[in-house]
Amino acid sequence: MSIKRIAVMTSGGDSPGMNAAIRAVVRTGMEYGFEVYGIRQAYTGLLAGDFNLLTSVEVSGILQRGGTILQTARNEEFRTPAGQKKGIRRLNEHKIDALVVIGGNGSLTGALRLHEQNIKVIGVPGSIDNDIFGTDMSIGVDTALNTILESLDRLRDTASSHQRAFVIETMGRNSGYLALMSSILGGAEIVITPEREPTMEEVAKALEDAYVRGKSHAIAVIAEGASYKATALTEYLTGNPNVGFEIRLTILGHIQRGGKPSAFDRLLATRMGVKAVELLRDGQSGLMVALNGRKMDAIPLQDAISQLRPINEDYFNMARFLSR
Ligand code: F6P
Repeated sequence: MSIKRIAVMTSGGDSPGMNAAIRAVVRTGMEYGFEVYGIRQAYTGLLAGDFNLLTSVEVSGILQRGGTILQTARNEEFRTPAGQKKGIRRLNEHKIDALVVIGGNGSLTGALRLHEQNIKVIGVPGSIDNDIFGTDMSIGVDTALNTILESLDRLRDTASSHQRAFVIETMGRNSGYLALMSSILGGAEIVITPEREPTMEEVAKALEDAYVRGKSHAIAVIAEGASYKATALTEYLTGNPNVGFEIRLTILGHIQRGGKPSAFDRLLATRMGVKAVELLRDGQSGLMVALNGRKMDAIPLQDAISQLRPINEDYFNMARFLSR
């Protein structure tokens, strides 16, 4: 069956660059003579039949915008077989031949369920967490990292002025990628991630060592997925007189998800959007586009959701000796 009409959605947590991916899907689709529909609010919109034709005009001026013009949602109903049947009915009602799903692990699992029920689907990895297996980077990671670094640099300025140590919490769900990379690139004293977790005593010791060495500031980056909370760590450090520094806590929160996509994310999202439509044109389904070194590849969705992307262990060692 040849494809005439495709649809695109953004799902799960938004990430900078999703709009660039939507634009690439729409304009590449047009290049191949497809009609492209946008589904608002991900699987929620799919179930509600919230489909709108997207033309070149609708995606004009969005390349540089954060968030997603299609909006996003997390949907429980679509996890059930009944929800999936309803979704497939909606796709048939709107004569949609194939779908591009841009999102994280949960969203890609939904995409796989559709593929298993004979709907043509291609996944595009979009999540600031960089926890999607099989791709070197997901859409939004680079921008989020730059946002974290900008904040970290600002916090270091004020920390130095007051001889303070900051505990900075990053997002990442169960992945320590954002925390680890920002700790290396922002020159933190110590990093706490779900993958490697120093004890609170060890964190205190790292800050104390910085104080004794005569540093005017110190930074501990903690991933939100660590087993102890940033607030508990801050309390512990505040109550430990050996640390030397006065302690402050900053939880970066959703600041990390917004903002203009970086050049890297615009390029990644554009390449991924183009590749997704090319795969559909070639009759492929059940794949996720994936950055492999400099190459744009595709891997089975099944593999992509089979595990979380592991962190390159070398970075932990690097973080340790570079912080001395
Ligand atoms: O997956 C992206 C992410 O920002 C995670 O880092 C974080 O744990 C989660 O989403 C927050 O979700 P919400 O926006 O629903 O609070």
